[in-house]
Amino acid sequence: MRINAGPPRAVTLDGADLFDPHFHSEGDPHAVWAYMREHAPLHRQTLPDGRAFWSVTRHVDACRVLGDHREFTSARGSLLAQLGTADAATGRMLVATDPPRHTQLRRPLNRLFSGPALHAAENRIRRAVRTVLAPAAREGRWDLARRAGLLPMAVASALMDLPEEDGERLLHWTGMAAAPEDPAYRVAGAGTTLAVAHHQLFAYFAELVARRRGTTGEDAIRLLLTMRADDGPLSDEEAVVNCYSLLLGANATTPHAVAGTVLALMEHPEQYAAAREDRSLVPGLVEEGLRWTSPASSFLRYAVVDAELSGGVVRPGDAVAVWVGSANRDERVFTDPYRFDIRRTGNRHIAFGFGPHYCLGAAVGRLTLRLFFEEAVDTVEEFRSAGPPRHLVSNFIAGLAELPVRTRP
Ligand code: HEM
Repeated sequence: MRINAGPPRAVTLDGADLFDPHFHSEGDPHAVWAYMREHAPLHRQTLPDGRAFWSVTRHVDACRVLGDHREFTSARGSLLAQLGTADAATGRMLVATDPPRHTQLRRPLNRLFSGPALHAAENRIRRAVRTVLAPAAREGRWDLARRAGLLPMAVASALMDLPEEDGERLLHWTGMAAAPEDPAYRVAGAGTTLAVAHHQLFAYFAELVARRRGTTGEDAIRLLLTMRADDGPLSDEEAVVNCYSLLLGANATTPHAVAGTVLALMEHPEQYAAAREDRSLVPGLVEEGLRWTSPASSFLRYAVVDAELSGGVVRPGDAVAVWVGSANRDERVFTDPYRFDIRRTGNRHIAFGFGPHYCLGAAVGRLTLRLFFEEAVDTVEEFRSAGPPRHLVSNFIAGLAELPVRTRP
């Protein structure tokens, strides 16, 4: 995903294919979204095989579609790549379940992200931050995007009490699941890559769940096994799909928020210098980095009733894609949206979503980013580009697969 550092160039919609993962790595979706916000806020795209979806690009419509489950359901899946395919985890996995069942599943899990649990995870995250930034202590070129993957793995491992040595393969499988078209992950066609990733991750968690059932401990897996929804405890299968969801939620997004924000800071060195001067600017830097990068790029919903949005009406059964990165550049909400500004006030970004599915891991995601940038401003004088970044091939995650940097300790 290209991230504009200035107002996007003028385009038309000819040849713009928001479904194509390559368009997000090699094309210029921000320019297309800017055009759509202004001229086609409800835009329909039909694929060669006849499947079709609407795109919403304005902040107000994004919040409406994500926020109102009575009008727009998550139960038919929320990934654009799976357009038109029923989600096998409907009613069992948080992201694919509507309230009231969703509320029952989600309420007990909040404990994992509350004060004491976050506090307990903090040391492990801080250690991971130091590992990620270790190459910065030496002169030379290193890949910040690749190393940033270590961060969410540390978070997820702390949360689920996963063996440290499993981190690398889990990270790879979640990469395959989030960006099956990307050359770093693709093993055959996207569908096969996704199926392999799902098989590996579900088998991994099924074994862990079986081993942990009936044992005691404070981790997320045991919490899933002991919590009760209204109709009783979760089955092993429900626990497995929600372990998958937690791991994917953490791994697919956090590294891209880190790497994309560092790229923005390399393009705006005065902002990094300001944060080094005054550490109290770091929380603002984190929020602006989240708005700027919007790593969770698209979410799908299906209309259940006639619903009027800016630009028209969608009908029951219609698929609607919300483009988060576009909503986060909406000039109706953000002053000078193409300016990266760590002092921005009233930053109402929706990088963590909006409404009932608002990111469960938002607090731990923010903590991870804050710890990373606090450590960075303390120990790294400057990040400099050491080669062109490579953008992830994905219509779901806006991210960087490679970000070569040179750092001055
Ligand atoms: C920068 C980091 C992150 C970003 C940008 C992000 C973004 C998002 C977004 C936009 C959603 C809404 C999905 C929807 O509306 O369908 C979401 C949901 C979710 N996220 Fe995150 N996320 C991040 C980090 C994390 C972490 C660290 C975890 C876990 C440790 C996590 C776990 C989840 C889960 C389980 C959901 C589903 C919540 C539900 O359906 O109720 N996320 N995330």
